[in-house]
Amino acid sequence: MKIKTAVFPVAGLGTRFLPATKAIPKEMLIVGDRPLIQHAVEEAKAAGIERFIFVTSQGKTAIEDHFDTNQLLERTLAERDKKKELEKVQSLQLAPGDAIFIRQQQPLGLGHAVWCVRNLVGNEPFALLLADDIIMGAAPCTAQMIDAYTKYGRGNYTAVMDVEPDHVSRYGILDIAEDDGFLVKARHVVEKPKPSESPSRTAIVGRYILDPMTFDKINIHKFGVSKEIQLTDAFRPMIDEGVPFYGVRFAGQRYDCGTKEGWLEANVVNAYHSDDMQEHLLKTLKTLRIKD
Ligand code: UTP
Repeated sequence: MKIKTAVFPVAGLGTRFLPATKAIPKEMLIVGDRPLIQHAVEEAKAAGIERFIFVTSQGKTAIEDHFDTNQLLERTLAERDKKKELEKVQSLQLAPGDAIFIRQQQPLGLGHAVWCVRNLVGNEPFALLLADDIIMGAAPCTAQMIDAYTKYGRGNYTAVMDVEPDHVSRYGILDIAEDDGFLVKARHVVEKPKPSESPSRTAIVGRYILDPMTFDKINIHKFGVSKEIQLTDAFRPMIDEGVPFYGVRFAGQRYDCGTKEGWLEANVVNAYHSDDMQEHLLKTLKTLRIKD
């Protein structure tokens, strides 16, 4: 079945990035010349996605505005003959009817945010993108995930990468049954295990292709790790009922822009790879001296 819908949960509080995220949504932080959420939407578009569902919350209207028209800005750019800028602004708009914004009233966790779109997605597989994870590389990560889904068939798929043993407690971790170097089949998934109890160091990052059965398996009455309704808790019952869970070792580099360190790294790498910023970046770095 073709994957036509992508879901972008953007209702989190972004507490690791305070105070920057007090009044500005985390997903509107900039990498390069565009906000995180635009990177994610562009990745989804490049993978052939046609419907974009955003799970937003109070104080996140900047996201909606970003993908809408801004008539004053566009008129002014046109009057001043700023064609390139006008094209940049217009090209990011989502076509009428292609974007849906719904609210998660309380930040109860990623599992709950996904559950909120159950009536909008319906009975078809869908992509899920967490915009605070930026994945850079030649092929868009979501396209790689859809390719894997097309090749291997029904199941739940997440992008995975191996992390440092002492970082496993930050991630959902796979208990691996089979691993051919690209596709990892999991027996189970454990959310944020202690390093001493972790079944592996193969960790989930923020790209998924999910089976619609997920909506029935998210238990909105069960608060898991970190007192949140965890998406990973929905996978175990599905695996037990025969829906396979796969990790895709994607090609590319992931940056966790929900943390200051990851966001900084993403900006430096982005500037290094951009024609108009590389020289300036290298010149700036050369002028820096490490203090004793
Ligand atoms: P995170 O846990 O990384 O985001 O969730 P957060 O909760 O905003 O960040 P911290 O931990 O407080 O710093 C991953 C994604 O899921 C969304 C977030 O907006 C983010 O894009 N999310 C999380 C929701 O939409 N709703 C929630 O209840 C929790």
